[in-house]
Amino acid sequence: MTNIWAVILARLPLAALLLACSFAYAETKNSCLDCHSALPDPLGVSQETFSHDIHAQKGLTCASCHGGDPTSDDADKAMSRKAGWKGKIDRAQIPQLCGSCHSDPSFMRTFNPSLRTDQLSQYKTSVHGKRLAAGDTKVAVCTDCHSVHDLRAPSNLASTVNPVNVANTCAHCHADPNYMSAYKIPTNQFADYSQSVHHSALAVRGDLSAPTCTTCHGNHGATPPGVAKVQNVCSNCHTFQAQMYEKSSHKAAFAAASLPGCVVCHSNHGIRHPTDAMLGTGPAAVCMQCHTPGDACDQARAGLQSGLSRLDEAIKGADQVLGVAESSGMEVSEARLGQDQARDSLTKARVTIHSFRTDLVDQDIQVGLKVAAKNLQAGKQAMVERNHRRVGLGISLVAIALVLLGLRLYIKQIES
Ligand code: HEC
Ligand code: HEC
Ligand code: HEC
Ligand code: HEC
Ligand code: HEC
Ligand code: HEC
Ligand code: HEC
Ligand code: HEC
Ligand code: HEC
Repeated sequence: MTNIWAVILARLPLAALLLACSFAYAETKNSCLDCHSALPDPLGVSQETFSHDIHAQKGLTCASCHGGDPTSDDADKAMSRKAGWKGKIDRAQIPQLCGSCHSDPSFMRTFNPSLRTDQLSQYKTSVHGKRLAAGDTKVAVCTDCHSVHDLRAPSNLASTVNPVNVANTCAHCHADPNYMSAYKIPTNQFADYSQSVHHSALAVRGDLSAPTCTTCHGNHGATPPGVAKVQNVCSNCHTFQAQMYEKSSHKAAFAAASLPGCVVCHSNHGIRHPTDAMLGTGPAAVCMQCHTPGDACDQARAGLQSGLSRLDEAIKGADQVLGVAESSGMEVSEARLGQDQARDSLTKARVTIHSFRTDLVDQDIQVGLKVAAKNLQAGKQAMVERNHRRVGLGISLVAIALVLLGLRLYIKQIES
């Protein structure tokens, strides 16, 4: 208890207010809310709205951020500079205001010891923060991402910064060509992202391990912790592809030409499900942006593509035969299960592609081809067996028919 008091005393002006407010929250007067809940926008803040705010829920009040004297009904007294009322909070001052509590570890610890207190210092390293410091107030400040007066914890599904809502929050500015017209950057990030594998994993399938804007760009800082450049962020999650790529000759060649890694072939925002056509020469091709037809790399490309499609076709061929065998009542479940192993080899080969070495990819292909061939054989054998059974069945049917015919002739003979 004593050190809490020490902390609070050390922050006397704010602490005095907070103390008054937190004791008084439930029963005591909040003249700010009384008046402002009746005022029209933009001055209006309703009781209903503010009750959703994490700050209100933790016992803070209007005066915790705005200053002033919430015990007075007199506008002049309540909103007096003497009582610490700050007046309209300038956009440029917002990060400082939020940081006055959130950058103070000893104060924040009294509420929630596990909450980070580096948001403001991180923010200052971001493009938003740097530009704000240089006087550009169109960039995002704390309240653009978090909202104000109904500000919720990120884990709350209704929070503007909940992973499911982040992309929309960024889109308010980044997808608005008018708002962004003074800047030289594109405004297609949201549209592209909305078409991507990541968006469909996160927003459609609810897979929270898929990235949204802030997973790649960082919440507050320029990039997420542990990532030197945004373009390297892919390796955090796609570790197998990254390990292969690290050892490939592309890694060094791209670095020397200052080309980003993964995004050269996959793009950054509009990432689609990769197909073998990326290795082809058609519209989806990625290799031929750089390599010339007929050179060693083009030959390697053709080899990789044909390897993958050979295995793909072998798997499909075996699937088909096994399917027919199964629907004719033959027992092929073991070979059916074995097909998953062949499919795994294909998946592995598509990861090994990132070595861009035909010999390595070929190892995976050969394993898969062997398995698929074995399963195909099992399917064919089942079909042969089925045919044998059919012939046997045919013969016995003919025999039965002959017996019946004989019987009938015999009966006729007896009758006559
Ligand atoms: C008696 C009613 C009343 C009370 C009590 C009151 N306000 Fe106001 N407040 C107003 C009105 C009316 C305005 C608009 C005044 C103006 O534009 O000059 C206003 C303006 C504001 C503004 C915006 C200033 C601007 O320039 O845009 C803030 C912020 C504010 N009040 C906060 C508070 C806080 C915090 C408290 C409590 C400590 C409080 N108010 C108490 C009526 C009140
Ligand atoms: C967590 C801090 C915080 C709390 C708590 C808070 N506000 Fe605010 N308020 C702000 C900030 C920051 C702005 C400026 C928002 C902006 O410009 O985007 C603001 C803006 C305002 C404005 C001015 C709107 C305008 O556009 O001129 C009024 C009025 C206001 N608040 C009243 C209140 C009242 C009344 C309460 C309590 C019910 C309250 N605030 C609680 C941080 C807070
Ligand atoms: C008067 C001190 C104070 C000010 C000013 C303040 N906050 Fe807070 N904030 C708190 C406290 C205390 C909590 C509750 C922490 C807890 O218990 O989890 C909190 C909680 C939060 C949370 C939820 C954290 C979580 O995950 O639980 C967010 C987000 C947040 N504040 C953002 C802001 C923003 C943005 C501003 C500026 C508009 C701001 N705060 C201004 C004290 C403050
Ligand atoms: C560009 C958007 C953006 C801006 C600007 C921004 N935040 Fe955040 N903030 C986020 C996101 C997104 C999260 C949620 C991360 C998550 O999912 O846990 C977050 C989380 C938080 C949290 C919860 C604890 C944590 O660190 O995860 C606090 C507190 C917070 N922000 C305060 C601030 C303050 C203070 C500022 C201004 C200095 C600010 N934020 C500016 C996007 C932003
Ligand atoms: C209030 C409007 C606004 C919001 C909301 C906003 N931004 Fe920004 N952002 C800007 C502006 C303006 C710039 C400066 C453009 C420039 O760098 O030329 C910028 C710059 C950036 C940059 C640097 C671009 C570059 O290479 O120069 C990134 C990355 C970025 N924002 C990401 C985000 C993300 C992610 C979010 C959502 C979590 C977000 N922003 C929310 C306005 C906003
Ligand atoms: C999978 C990671 C990833 C996701 C998700 C992502 N970005 Fe990016 N973003 C990147 C990379 C990589 C770059 C290129 C950076 C470079 O070249 O240095 C980039 C560039 C940008 C830029 C700079 C301008 C440009 O287009 O090159 C902005 C602004 C931006 N992203 C905003 C967003 C917004 C808004 C979202 C969410 C709708 C988002 N990003 C989602 C990885 C991502
Ligand atoms: C936060 C983790 C994370 C980050 C960062 C990330 N991804 Fe992903 N990625 C995923 C998840 C999860 C999926 C969905 C996997 C699935 O479809 O089951 C995915 C899917 C993909 C796919 C499609 C795979 C398929 O089989 O359809 C590609 C390609 C891809 N990501 C490339 C990238 C690139 C390039 C980057 C960097 C710009 C990147 N990812 C950054 C987690 C991440
Ligand atoms: C030189 C082009 C190129 C680069 C660079 C590249 N990829 Fe790929 N990527 C491909 C091709 C081609 C495929 C496979 C297409 C196919 O046959 O399905 C692929 C497939 C993928 C897949 C899907 C694998 C699967 O299971 O189907 C993911 C995920 C992926 N890449 C991530 C990455 C990551 C992460 C990086 C950076 C470390 C990266 N890629 C770099 C060309 C590239
Ligand atoms: C952005 C340009 C670019 C793209 C796209 C690209 N490459 Fe390359 N590739 C290079 C460069 C540059 C080298 C290094 C050449 C050297 O070392 O002589 C290289 C090297 C190679 C090598 C190795 C040659 C060796 O001797 O080690 C192979 C194989 C290769 N690329 C195949 C591919 C395939 C397959 C694709 C498509 C999936 C592809 N490349 C896409 C630029 C590219």
